[in-house]
Amino acid sequence: MRNKKVSALLCGLILSTNIAYTQSVTIASKEISPILVGAFFEDLNYAADGGLYGELLQNRSFEYTPSDIYDLRNTSNNGWNSFTAWHFLRSINSIGRVSVETVSPIHPNNPHYIRLRVLTEGESGAGLRNTGYDGICVNENETYKFSVFIRTEQCGVLKIRLTEHSQILSEQEIEIDGNTTWTKYECQLQPLHSSSEANVEVLFPQKGTYDIDMVSLFPTKTYKGRANGLRKDLADCIEALHPQFMRFPGGCLAHGDGLDNIYHWKETIGPIEQRLEQPNIWRYRQSRGIGYHEYFQFCEDIGAEALPVVAAGVSCQNSARRGGDGQEIIPTDEMDTYIQDLFDLIEYCNGDTSSVWGRKRAENGHPTPFDLKYLGIGNEDRITPEFSERFKLIVTKLRERCPEIYLIGTSGPFHSGEDFEKGWVLARETNVWAVDEHYYVRPEWLLENLHRYDDYPRTGPKVYLGEWASKGNTWWNALCEAAYLCHLERNGDIVVMASYAPLLAHLQHIQWKPDLIYFDKQAVYPTVNYEIQRLFATNKGNRVWTGIISDEEGREADATSCVTDSDNQRIFIKMVNTTEQEQIRNINLAPLHPRNKKAVIEVVSGERNAQNTPQNPQSLQKTITSKKVRNTFSCTLPPYSVTIIKL
Ligand code: AHR
Repeated sequence: MRNKKVSALLCGLILSTNIAYTQSVTIASKEISPILVGAFFEDLNYAADGGLYGELLQNRSFEYTPSDIYDLRNTSNNGWNSFTAWHFLRSINSIGRVSVETVSPIHPNNPHYIRLRVLTEGESGAGLRNTGYDGICVNENETYKFSVFIRTEQCGVLKIRLTEHSQILSEQEIEIDGNTTWTKYECQLQPLHSSSEANVEVLFPQKGTYDIDMVSLFPTKTYKGRANGLRKDLADCIEALHPQFMRFPGGCLAHGDGLDNIYHWKETIGPIEQRLEQPNIWRYRQSRGIGYHEYFQFCEDIGAEALPVVAAGVSCQNSARRGGDGQEIIPTDEMDTYIQDLFDLIEYCNGDTSSVWGRKRAENGHPTPFDLKYLGIGNEDRITPEFSERFKLIVTKLRERCPEIYLIGTSGPFHSGEDFEKGWVLARETNVWAVDEHYYVRPEWLLENLHRYDDYPRTGPKVYLGEWASKGNTWWNALCEAAYLCHLERNGDIVVMASYAPLLAHLQHIQWKPDLIYFDKQAVYPTVNYEIQRLFATNKGNRVWTGIISDEEGREADATSCVTDSDNQRIFIKMVNTTEQEQIRNINLAPLHPRNKKAVIEVVSGERNAQNTPQNPQSLQKTITSKKVRNTFSCTLPPYSVTIIKL
């Protein structure tokens, strides 16, 4: 140890002082994963339908069924049906009848539709009203695209209205031309004023029989203006996270609630009226308007590698609420067909347009390949003999046919225990590229386990920390996650990907907490945990260093990391203070040979229990300053803070 006059940095201020630092720490560096921090997307908490998916109408194709149980805690919500979110409208003196039909639907995947018979016109006929997801949020000055499929012998008009209670916010007439095949009609609506309580009405003023299906309303301003697009504020918020990869469609939703609920990608692509809707394991409906194609498109749009996770030939062990005992298996003689679907998925992403599935991708609007590199097989499954048999078969066949794809295995729902051990044994036996670990833990657990990966073997499969979070959305939780992320970076040679889970939650429809981003129909509320994920995803490198940041005793400081980015020749130093006292960190930049000593210093701090809420969406203090630093300097970390120094 020796004393040296260096610069001390206090909340962005550089002070000259005498501090002690050591030369006994070992300076070393290693390459780390350039895609360490990503996102985990699952249609849970109304993340897709009623959330990221831009569709504003609920139950647009009348497919809800009584077996979709929305809220297990509230039995009055049970018993959804084709008419959920719909109301029958009848003007004064009109007589109408409404029924749910299934003969000659638009497509066999979309079997239910409404037959409306206007028997006596009365004042203005009859029709239907949709209430959206707890009322529709519309903005003045924005336009909305309405569409509907109709089959009728009747010629006449159709009135489309946006309403708020009894007030008409916008009205359009569409001429219908007596077409006895299903025909799509469209118009645009612009509301008189903004509302979060709007409804959509489809009115049939003339006598006649009308078959009605796929009634839809989208904002024109979707994310990147795409048709069948995403809700812009939510998509922007995910984009701003800069995830380097995105996992989808789950989670448990991927392997599903029993065999017939496994997520089959082919059912989710193509024209939306031909997709197969399904209940999800979270007990509500998925329209699959966001299907595999949209997931790949979104990944491309936000610059994230796509990471689909498919079932390993078995359903979720919690199927039918059988608490860990409900794993159902695809019969052996059906496994070839199942695996063929996986080959086809890879062809859909990577095949050229002369291939069958590459051509379908082009038909769906994306002629260039999506360039899929990663595939997860299984989701925290119980490692039963049946699972292992199917997993091995899938890995062997995929490796033979598509050796370029990085395959990821699974290791149960916890950070240790029987499935964890067995999952790792199986992963080593099959030599998959990485193993998906999952854990939701106390924040303190993260601090107690900062060094978890230091001793992981450096040969064999790598780690994908596919689902992780500390249990809570306070700044204390986020700080512990930040400290842990520093150590994931330090072990970024073996931990190649990590995704906080779950990503999204609608404040009125939560099945799983905590989450990274909350929202309601009007606004988006990123959590303090989001702030941490964003900081680590945006300040990333491809090489991690030790021996750069030391504590007051001159030891390598925990809860810190230093990464460099060879492409942009940048240095990122991250330091987390999880205590209520200031902490001093000594920094020695000399081994990094910084070309530029101008540092940008970002400090985020807050009360231990700070939490972003709709009432207080910005509960943290943030400062960004820039200073010239010397090769060695010290830095005072404020209580409960994260400091990032960028050169
Ligand atoms: O992230 C929520 C759920 O947690 C996932 O669906 C599942 O994989 C895990 O149990």
